Amino acid sequence: MHSRRHFVQRSAAIAALAALLPGLPLSALAANSLLRRRIGSSGEWLPVIGLGTSRTHDVALDEASLEPLLEVLRTLVNGGASLIDTAPSYGRAEAVCGALAARSGLRERLFLASKVSASGREAGARQIEASFRALQTDRIDLIQVHNLQDTATQLGLLRELKEQGRVRYIGVTHYLESAHERLLEVLHQEPVDFVQFNYSVGERNAEQRLLPYCADQGIAVLINRPFQRAALFQRVRGKALPDWATVELDAGSWAQLLLKYILAHPAVTAVIPATSRPRNMADNLLAGHGRLPNAAQRQRIIELFA
Ligand SMILES: NC(=O)c1ccc[n+]([C@@H]2O[C@H](COP(=O)([O-])OP(=O)(O)OC[C@H]3O[C@@H](n4cnc5c(N)ncnc54)[C@H](OP(=O)(O)O)[C@@H]3O)[C@@H](O)[C@H]2O)c1
Repeated sequence: MHSRRHFVQRSAAIAALAALLPGLPLSALAANSLLRRRIGSSGEWLPVIGLGTSRTHDVALDEASLEPLLEVLRTLVNGGASLIDTAPSYGRAEAVCGALAARSGLRERLFLASKVSASGREAGARQIEASFRALQTDRIDLIQVHNLQDTATQLGLLRELKEQGRVRYIGVTHYLESAHERLLEVLHQEPVDFVQFNYSVGERNAEQRLLPYCADQGIAVLINRPFQRAALFQRVRGKALPDWATVELDAGSWAQLLLKYILAHPAVTAVIPATSRPRNMADNLLAGHGRLPNAAQRQRIIELFA
């Protein structure tokens, strides 16, 4: 990107974040732009903070319901991020994402990820065509086989769509630690660009085999359930964020500390916390700035949430 245009965009993004979060350490933000990591199969850079949409985006397609989510989307893009993860099984969320992308005029700056959850080739193809209509786009950046449902058939279909240029990347997902071994088996058998799974301070099983395997094979990794929905916040309810989190790691909130724990793993390409609030979107974006914890600091974070 042209450096002056980049500078102007970054300045606007920082001003927008500052408006949402008074007291923000602007100097820290100005000095470091949002962290990006490479997608192994293409070399394309992806900003490390994205947006999940399960439950938060299952709202009515009317003005009053869409407006706050439009502000979440603008905050995401103004903050230098692009990735939105949705699915046909999230109620109205996929159509809401399509409406938000169209209304905001920001489609070209988004990386839209959806899923397929169907059994059989025809049902998969029908569902994927419905996703194109719901998302109001003729090219979906990533489609993932949701929870390993009918994986071989659906990946076959997705590969054809990729060859046709209608889908840019393909992948598989799950959200339970009990499915990590099955995910690994699929990754051994099927070439995919992305894999999405659960990983957080409270669910660290992926550190054993899944994350090292993805790093070794250059498979891009999306992390879901970074806050275990909101359960991890309950563990520190009423506790003040320790000073060292801010002084040593530039973390200004519990959410940022949880996301920094995840991003500190080098195999992680991006994390996709869901939110319905612009303020929380800005908060999450800040985790992609500043320092990340080393091994000893990660251990201290685990102890805080124990
Ligand atoms: N099988 C699969 O493929 C699969 C399964 C699970 C999840 N996913 C994907 O991963 C995404 C994330 O997982 P998730 O939605 O289950 O859970 P999550 O991201 O761990 O937690 C979402 C919750 O955290 C709250 N939150 C977000 N940012 C916050 C902040 N800065 N401070 C305080 N609270 C905050 C949100 O509430 P507010 O709205 O109030 O901010 C929301 O209730 C999903 O939305 C979905 O896109 C995929």
